Amino acid sequence: MNNQIQKLYNISQKTTRHIIGLMSGTSLDGLDLAHCRITGAGADTQVELLHFETVDYTIETKNRIRAIFAKKNIDFQTFTLLNAWLGRFHGALINDFLKKNKIPKDRIDAIASHGQTVFHAPSILHHIPDMPNATLQIGDGDHIAVTTNLLTLSDFRQKHVAAGGAGAPLAVYGDYFIFSKRGENRILLNLGGIANFTYLPASCDANEVFTTDTGTGNTLSDAWIRRFLPHESYDKDGAMAGLGCVLPDLLKALKTNDFFQKSFPKTTGPELFNIEYVEQAMEKIGMPYPKTIDEKCDLMRTLVEFSAETIAEAIENTLITNHQKVCDFKIYMSGGGMHHPILTARLQALLEDASFYKTDDLGISGDAKEAVLFAILANECLAGGTTHFGNRQGIPSISMGKISFPN
Ligand SMILES: Nc1ncnc2c1ncn2[C@@H]1O[C@H](COP(=O)(O)OP(=O)(O)O)[C@@H](O)[C@H]1O
Ligand SMILES: [Mg+2]
Repeated sequence: MNNQIQKLYNISQKTTRHIIGLMSGTSLDGLDLAHCRITGAGADTQVELLHFETVDYTIETKNRIRAIFAKKNIDFQTFTLLNAWLGRFHGALINDFLKKNKIPKDRIDAIASHGQTVFHAPSILHHIPDMPNATLQIGDGDHIAVTTNLLTLSDFRQKHVAAGGAGAPLAVYGDYFIFSKRGENRILLNLGGIANFTYLPASCDANEVFTTDTGTGNTLSDAWIRRFLPHESYDKDGAMAGLGCVLPDLLKALKTNDFFQKSFPKTTGPELFNIEYVEQAMEKIGMPYPKTIDEKCDLMRTLVEFSAETIAEAIENTLITNHQKVCDFKIYMSGGGMHHPILTARLQALLEDASFYKTDDLGISGDAKEAVLFAILANECLAGGTTHFGNRQGIPSISMGKISFPN
């Protein structure tokens, strides 16, 4: 037997695996690295987060990715070079992370790399007849495997698309395995660049699990703060939004888009929710471009309200279809948006009957959660894969991840 296949077999037979999950989302804030000790698989999965770090991207790295990120027309050489460069860069960051935390390399069974989404194109966004759902992540797994000399699983979203899904959200699988609790209806709400949630029924029945994106999380606020203050990457602690007032006409125009008429589950990205999206809404209502500081703060506050209302409405609509009341739910937040005091305050006001927590209250830091979930997907690929979610739209019962051997 090929030595690498033998090693792979041995890893799949272990009771406990050490996996480093990597996540770098649409916010382009940095790479999240989560060293997880995972025991079991499927609904028996137990995970301990041993080390976690977000390595912030430098402005040069962000600009490199932004040269192609969510753009319809790009330079093909830049794209090709970035796929290899980012894989090596992420590999080098893993090596640094291991050294810094004094983790011996031979303790690590696998890397689970999400990669960097450069274009997300579900059919509800591309509208091209006869073309399938599609999504693309770069930072190739072979480069990570060779740079780290570690088994690497990557490119998880393609199988989801191949099996009839839209490539997102994938958090639902890990959410179900580690956060389901019998007797408690839970909503795991991730506030990243795009917001999504997973509904975990008190019955723990995989057939009743539900997941969807809701629209923008932080992506519009981030894009506009960069426009107003080029050296800032986000509105820290909602400082600008906190000084503004909601502009009702603009809010209404922002909410008038086909995406919000489509049935759940659905997925989206900055390909839709971008600067132009807001400019078009301003144009529609004849609003002049914000110039004074007050006008800029009002826009920031309105964008936060747009996120909060669309998230709250998505949750309420799904609960109504489930014939349950909001007060029966606990909401556990994760992602950078959970640090935005105005966004979280508005969510709590709009969903006043629900009780709010962070995934930190369940033992997994909300900042690390997405990276942990990819470690769990890799664990499933290596040793699980027997959980069935029924014939569900958006949650195909599949294993995900491509395997790269280090040599
Ligand atoms: N203290 C804070 N105040 C306001 N927003 C914050 C704060 N910390 C993080 N964020 C937001 O969270 C984003 C990063 O969230 P993250 O979960 O990493 O998203 P992604 O998965 O898209 O990378 C930042 O771009 C910013 O918008
Ligand atoms: Mg991030």
